[in-house]
Amino acid sequence: MFSQLPTPILDPILSLSVAYRSDPRSEKVDLGIGVYKNSAGETPVMKAISQAQDIVVATQKTKSYVGLAGCEEFNQSMVNLLLDGTSAMDRVAGIQTPGASGALRMLGDLMKVAQPNTTIWISNPSYVNHRPVMEAAGLKVKHYHYFSPETKQVDVARMLDDLSTAGPDDVVLLHGCCHNPTGADIDFDAWKVITQLAQKNGFTPFVDIAYQGFGDGLEQDAQGLRYMADNVEEMLITTSCSKNFGLYRERTGAAIVVGKSQHDVNNAKGKLMTLARATYTMPPDHGAALVKTILQNQELTAVWKQELSEMQQRLLNLRKILCNELRNNYNTSQFDFIESHKGMFTVLGFSQDQMARLREEYGIYGVGDGRINVAGLTERDIPYVAQAIVNVA
Ligand SMILES: Cc1ncc(COP(=O)(O)O)c(C=O)c1O
Repeated sequence: MFSQLPTPILDPILSLSVAYRSDPRSEKVDLGIGVYKNSAGETPVMKAISQAQDIVVATQKTKSYVGLAGCEEFNQSMVNLLLDGTSAMDRVAGIQTPGASGALRMLGDLMKVAQPNTTIWISNPSYVNHRPVMEAAGLKVKHYHYFSPETKQVDVARMLDDLSTAGPDDVVLLHGCCHNPTGADIDFDAWKVITQLAQKNGFTPFVDIAYQGFGDGLEQDAQGLRYMADNVEEMLITTSCSKNFGLYRERTGAAIVVGKSQHDVNNAKGKLMTLARATYTMPPDHGAALVKTILQNQELTAVWKQELSEMQQRLLNLRKILCNELRNNYNTSQFDFIESHKGMFTVLGFSQDQMARLREEYGIYGVGDGRINVAGLTERDIPYVAQAIVNVA
């Protein structure tokens, strides 16, 4: 059975971590995998999570099954975080999933059942797993223009041009904030225009929001998504607690649908539960139990919001220090765009060869497509990294 299988192709991001770990150079810097790191280069358990963990351990009486949709209080908390104050609140339903990755797959499967002819449009470039997941769900995938290599910002005109050809059989996947991999986000005006296009041409928006709170803040990062949810009849949403709760390995996320009526979304939720039953049956509980505990407790929520805001400020600060270093010590404004990008990632605009030079000559590990994880920097690394960037540019 197995002898016919081809040699596996290594995941381009996960294999970087392996190479980084075996690199003996002491000056090496890991800007590859998308995890937040503090100034000590660590990805700590957040304080709010540790406190919630104590509560869960002290109060949990059973490890019995929870249910196909996971924890309903968690699901409601996720809906509140994303859609609070919108008219979508009474025509929305969601299930807890194993991370946003699980949510992407469940919604991919739902689209395939509900509208078998669906073509899903994803940005070029996009999160490395968007295309494989949607293809695995049996959907056709198309790209829309997104990033301008010249300006290092979103090419909104070309993006809108492409999306104006999307119709009722199409779903348009947008990044809610902190675009992965580019770091370049659309502004609120573009959210409004895309919403109008969806209304006029009949495509369904799908927002993947994996970094709420890492860009401009918890509320601000949901602004475009909320405007859209207020103004379209149907919408799909995936969200993740990997980054903003630091729960990467606990696989905690949600798949959410907004529909024309509560009746419609109840049916969609029922179908999602059937799909989950045939895939993993139930999501892991621990991460969702922690998030629920935090969001149902005002004090813990305040601790979490404070920590999240510190993480967001740290990202902004690292961007600023790196740009200053490049401007002041190398007299170049070529990389000023780094400061305008949002969240953990920035695409430097380097070729595969330039990224290989960063890795081989300097031990700086970014992704081959030019993405660096700004959160992987420490203040101490910045002069070294700035010098390497200038030398390779
Ligand atoms: C845009 C985007 N969506 C989804 C995910 C998947 O996140 P999770 O760890 O919750 O599966 C990621 C992770 O990097 C991401 O960047």
